[in-house]
Amino acid sequence: MDEIVKSLLRWYQSHKRELPWRRDRNPYHIWVSEIMLQQTRVEAVKDYYQRFLEALPDIFALAAVEDDVLMKLWQGLGYYNRARNLKKSAVLLVEQYGGEFPESFTRIQKLPGIGIYTAGAIASIAFGERVPAVDGNVYRIYTRLFEDGDDISKGAVQKRIREKIAEMVPEENPGDFNQALMDLGANVCLPNGEPLCADCPLEGFCLAKKNETMMQYPYKSPGKKRRIEEKTVFILEYHGKYCLQKRPETGLLAGLWEFPVQEGNLTVQEVLGKLEEWGEMAEELELLGKAKHIFSHIEWRMIGYLVRLKAITPEIRESFILASKEELREKYSIPSAYVAYLRQLL
Ligand code: ADE
Repeated sequence: MDEIVKSLLRWYQSHKRELPWRRDRNPYHIWVSEIMLQQTRVEAVKDYYQRFLEALPDIFALAAVEDDVLMKLWQGLGYYNRARNLKKSAVLLVEQYGGEFPESFTRIQKLPGIGIYTAGAIASIAFGERVPAVDGNVYRIYTRLFEDGDDISKGAVQKRIREKIAEMVPEENPGDFNQALMDLGANVCLPNGEPLCADCPLEGFCLAKKNETMMQYPYKSPGKKRRIEEKTVFILEYHGKYCLQKRPETGLLAGLWEFPVQEGNLTVQEVLGKLEEWGEMAEELELLGKAKHIFSHIEWRMIGYLVRLKAITPEIRESFILASKEELREKYSIPSAYVAYLRQLL
């Protein structure tokens, strides 16, 4: 085990990725980066991270930020509850702890939006606490190293692997150890397709490599299928402005703005029927095409129509706000699910 850890740390010294959140150990910076990196790729996070910290340089700024500004900073990253939980935590830390970030794994884990992985990452990287940060990358590396064929979707298996990794975390630079595993998982012990074993510092220890069984690990039983939802997206345009409605304050994409939608993928005829039913006078109807968006448990299959309105009814004024292109860009947070349609407008 010792040799594995040493080889990994040596490799990390010369191969670690230069990432914006590795320039210092400010807990606020590490916290923001780890929340952004939940469910989002490193490349996608880089620019958001820099922009976020320029706008909100410390916990006090985050605690005081307007929700709309926060959502705009997060727009495109998805999973918006992450941003809401960041602010909620910041408010709590400012009100109860003088704006100090908690310094132990146990206390960090109590903050909203922080699970065992993220708490481990922050505690080890920012405070040098000897705790593991075990995610899918680490399960993959571990199960290949030891040809462990247990089902990694099972909680008990995850716990066992986490305990094994916890024993390996070194006293010195635990954050480097955890980040070395992250980099190895991202660049060498790849998830889809052949891993790059020739570049791996652990090649000599790896049972899967020895038996050429890398592609059999990790084993994961097939999970539940995503629910498919069909939708029709109406881009209602009136004199260069577009109708938007606010999503409910709870549930999927809570509180964000969207174009009016209807259940089902409606045909042109059905759309015309709907418009008539609503009393809308369409001057022009344009098919914007199909688009798909995948959430963790749901898949939206959308069809979009641009409807140029001749006149605007009182119902429309009551149900929607009208936003200019500039406001679509700068003011309202519209989820990335609609990006295919937004792009055609802007
Ligand atoms: N993924 C999650 N946390 C990370 C980190 N600190 N560095 C690189 N990738 C990560």
